[in-house]
Order: sequence, then C-alpha cells, then structure tokens
Amino acid sequence: MSDNRYGVHEDEVEIERRRLGMLAEARDPRTRRILNSTGLSPGWRCWELGAGGGTVSAWLGRRVGPDGSVWSTDVDLQFHRPVLPNVAVEQHDVARDPVPEAAFDLVHARAVLQHLPERDQVIETLWDALVPGGWLVVEDGAFASFAEQTLPEPYATVHRYVASGAISEWRDPEYGVKLPGRFRDLRAADIEIIGDVWSMRPGEPGGEWWFLALERAIPRLVEAGLVTPEDGDAALAQLRAPRFVMMSTVSIAVLGRKPST
Ligand SMILES: C[S@@+](CC[C@H](N)C(=O)[O-])C[C@H]1O[C@@H](n2cnc3c(N)ncnc32)[C@H](O)[C@@H]1O
Repeated sequence: MSDNRYGVHEDEVEIERRRLGMLAEARDPRTRRILNSTGLSPGWRCWELGAGGGTVSAWLGRRVGPDGSVWSTDVDLQFHRPVLPNVAVEQHDVARDPVPEAAFDLVHARAVLQHLPERDQVIETLWDALVPGGWLVVEDGAFASFAEQTLPEPYATVHRYVASGAISEWRDPEYGVKLPGRFRDLRAADIEIIGDVWSMRPGEPGGEWWFLALERAIPRLVEAGLVTPEDGDAALAQLRAPRFVMMSTVSIAVLGRKPST
C-alpha cells in the first residue's frame, strides 16, 4: 500500500471533498469535449489516473459501455464516487506501483502530474501503457500569469504566495507549459495543444476550487509569519465580496497518439 504524499490532512478532508467537486463541475465539460475528440468509442480500454472524485471515470465508463473498461486509480480513494461495474477502482501510486504495458486505448490525467516530483518518468510510464494507436491526454495548469495578475491588496500578496507555490501541494506549477515538449520527446503523433482561462467568482465552481484552497492555505501563511491574521481575514473577505472576479490559471491540455508502426 502506498502512503499519500499528495497530502490531505485529516482536518481538511471535507474542504478537499468540496474542492474536488467544484473542480470537477468546472472542468468536466471541457475534459469531456477533449476526450471525445480522440474518437473515444464503445469498447475502448481507458485509464483515468489521479481520478480524484471519479466523475471523469464514471463518464468514461458510460461512454465505453459494457464492452469497454476503465481503470480508475488514485493514491487516495476516499473521495471516489461509486461507478459502473466496467470501471475498476484501485488504490495505486503511479510513481511507485506496477503499470501494465500496451494495455490502454486512452490514458488521461488531469491536474495530477504537476503534483508529482517524478512527473517526467511518470509520463513515460503512461506512454508505455498505451497500445499502438492509443491516445495520451494530459491536462495541467500554468500558474505564472495567474500569480502575477493585478489584484487588490492584501489579497494580492496572499495570492502570490499561494499561486507561486510558497505553500502548496504542487511541485511544478508551470508543468502545463512543459507538456508540449514532453509529448514531442515521446515522438507522439497528431499532437494537439488546447489552452483556456475562465472567470473565477465566489460561489461558482470555477472560482471555489481555488478559494477553498486559500481557506486552507491562509492559516498556514499566518502561522509561518508571512501574513498577519488581519490581512488573512481581509484577503478572504475580498475574494468573497459579491462582485469579485479574477482570471483563472491557464489550463493546458495536450493530446498525442502513439504511432501504430
Ligand atoms: C488536483 S487533484 C485532481 C483530481 C482529478 N484528476 C480532477 O481533475 O478532478 C490530484 C489528484 O491526484 C492524486 N494523486 C497525487 N499523487 C498521486 C500518485 N502518486 N498516484 C496517483 N494519484 C495521485 C491525488 O490523490 C488527487 O486525487
């Protein structure tokens, strides 16, 4: 059994459940469009890794039908929702546990690789897991422009600390930008690169995935002496103000196909 290096503290479980739910609600429609663009069909064998709440795995299970299958893995399954019988849910650390070779028509990871120190080896493992002709789809963020956008103080300072990774779970907040190069290194065919940003508002899934993360991060910044308790409270009030809006991270999806010959 793997330990959880991604690290959800016991007292943060409910906030993380809500955060993953918001992330899924905000991102799933786009992810479904991207995955459909590979030609995803009944009978395909898919691997959804770092599945989180399992909403993409559940959708894949419906799309591939009873003749297809989905391997839905995560190092931490406590947030995974129930799924159809053709979706096998397994606790699995992609950086440490065995992965079958040439087994999948589609491998997908969203907001996972940027958290893993071993991401460059892991992407090769994902590639090896594909059958010839199979598709790798990786979605990751790019945080630099997100961190540097103009925002009101004191939220601006708090935001920059968290977005630039001073106190964060991810290990490479710019991994989305590096993905196209990694796909070229893998000699992927038919590479497509898709990027987008969206409006983040309080009370909406597109904003709450981040605002909930800040609610967790601000007490740690205060504890570390980087932000005063007053500025922490004021920053939270600013981003919870009814008309507040800001720009999201840049979300980058890269698709590539393993050549058949
Ligand atoms: C930001 S969440 C994204 C969840 C989901 N992919 C989504 O987009 O809604 C990152 C996920 O990666 C998982 N994870 C972290 N390290 C992992 C590892 N070594 N192997 C498998 N999953 C891992 C976490 O447990 C978490 O569910």
